[in-house]
Formats: sequence, structure tokens, C-alpha cells
Amino acid sequence: MGRDTIYSMPKKKQKLVIANWKMNPQTSIEAEHIFQEIKKTAVKLKRTHAVVCSPAIFLGDLQAIYSGEKISIGAQDVFWEKNGSYTGEVSVGQLKDSGVKYVLVGHSERRALGETNEIVKNKLDAVISSGMKAVLCIGESERDDHGDYLAFITEELRSGLAGVSPKNIKNVIVAYEPIWAIGKCKEDAMSPHDMHQMSLFIRKILMSMFQRNIASRVNILYGGSVERENAEELIKDGEIDGFLIGRASLEGKHFSDILNIVERS
Ligand code: PGA
Repeated sequence: MGRDTIYSMPKKKQKLVIANWKMNPQTSIEAEHIFQEIKKTAVKLKRTHAVVCSPAIFLGDLQAIYSGEKISIGAQDVFWEKNGSYTGEVSVGQLKDSGVKYVLVGHSERRALGETNEIVKNKLDAVISSGMKAVLCIGESERDDHGDYLAFITEELRSGLAGVSPKNIKNVIVAYEPIWAIGKCKEDAMSPHDMHQMSLFIRKILMSMFQRNIASRVNILYGGSVERENAEELIKDGEIDGFLIGRASLEGKHFSDILNIVERS
């Protein structure tokens, strides 16, 4: 055994906190304002990386006000074809040109508009082959006593990651967002204990698809009514690597508080 083997400790994963602004705010001025507030906190963090997934229309404005490495710009969706006659769609090339590093794929609100596992898979492949990171969103709409929801999640995960190479899986983040917990308040969020169980379950599926050491490096995030009040217990006891945050990310101060909680955890 060489010196390096004896003394090298496993590297602690950097935590990731992603803002999903959805179809908000309504003006670029507001978008820049929230982004600036988040940035002020994000640049001071050492163990936590902040990502802001803004509506596509504001990406260029955000890119213009920040080009450092302490905060990344993300997109909420993408189309899988490289270019062509796809009215209204946005390509991976266009996102990259706007400074985007992370792209949400398969968010439940997009799935509700008709996005199938097959479409999600096409988008994920397009994102990771372009070198950006894909945030694969999964989550059941309700829980049942027979465990059908576990089969549902397994299918979302397996179909989304089918054929992804061990090399490319490092560009995938899994965001577990149970639909029943999204857009509510902290009382409706998942408990740290249940999240812990779910995280182990997701990790087990990843380990059945990839080598153990590769699967253990994939970031697993939780999303669904995360606020400053429940962030601490979830990050400490939920066995997660960060959050995907909707409502609380639209207020710069609130999101910054969550960033600081994650940094201290
Ligand atoms: P929420 O949204 O934090 O408002 O529940 C999370 C999401 O939909 O990504």
C-alpha cells in the first residue's frame, strides 16, 4: 500500500443548492436583483455551490452580471435536438452560449405537461453529451401502502439513466422531489427520516447500475417545500447532498439563509 493510499481520506462531496425560479420573476430587473442578493452569499461559501435556474429569457442578463465560479447559472428545460425547426424550443448549444452549466430535466411540472420518461431520457442525454450537468428530477405523486411508488421511482431513475456511461454519470445529479411535497409549506415537506430512507433506496438503484465507487459519488438532492426552518434537519439527517428549491429561492435573503445553513451543516 503506497503512502497516498494510507493517508488519502475520501474527498467530502461539495453540497449543491439549486434555485428553481419556475416562471418567475416577471422582469429582468427583478431577476438581476434576486441573483445579486444570492451571489453575495454564494461567493463566500467554501463547501456549498449555488445554482440559479432562471427562466431562459433572463439567462443572458444573468450571464452578463456574473462569470465567476462560485455560483452557476442553470436552465429549467431544454430540447434534445441540436438545431432546426422546433418553434419555441431552446437547444443545448444556445444554453451553453448563455453560460448555463446545469439543466433541470424531467421536473414534475414538465412531466405534468406531457413529458414522458423517453423524452426526459433524450433531454438528459443531450445535456450530458454537451458537457453540462443534468439534474434528473424524479418523484411520485402519492404514496401507497403496497410500495407502488418505489417501483415508479425506480422506473423514472432507470429509464433516465439507461445507457449513461460511467464517465458521464459524474455529470448527473438526482433530485428527488415527491410531488405531494412541492409548493406547500414546511409542514408538508418530507421528514428527514423518510428522506434518509429514500436516499438509501435511490443509492441502491444507482449501485445496481454503476460501480459502487461511481454510484456513491452521484449527488442526491431533496426538493419540496424546503425553507430555512426545515433545511437544517433535512441536510443533517436526510442523507442528502443538497436541495432543489422553488418558492424560497425567489427571495434572495431566504435562499441565502438556506445556503448558509447548508454550508454550516
Ligand atoms: P418548492 O418547489 O420548493 O416551492 O416546493 C420545489 C420544486 O418544484 O423544484
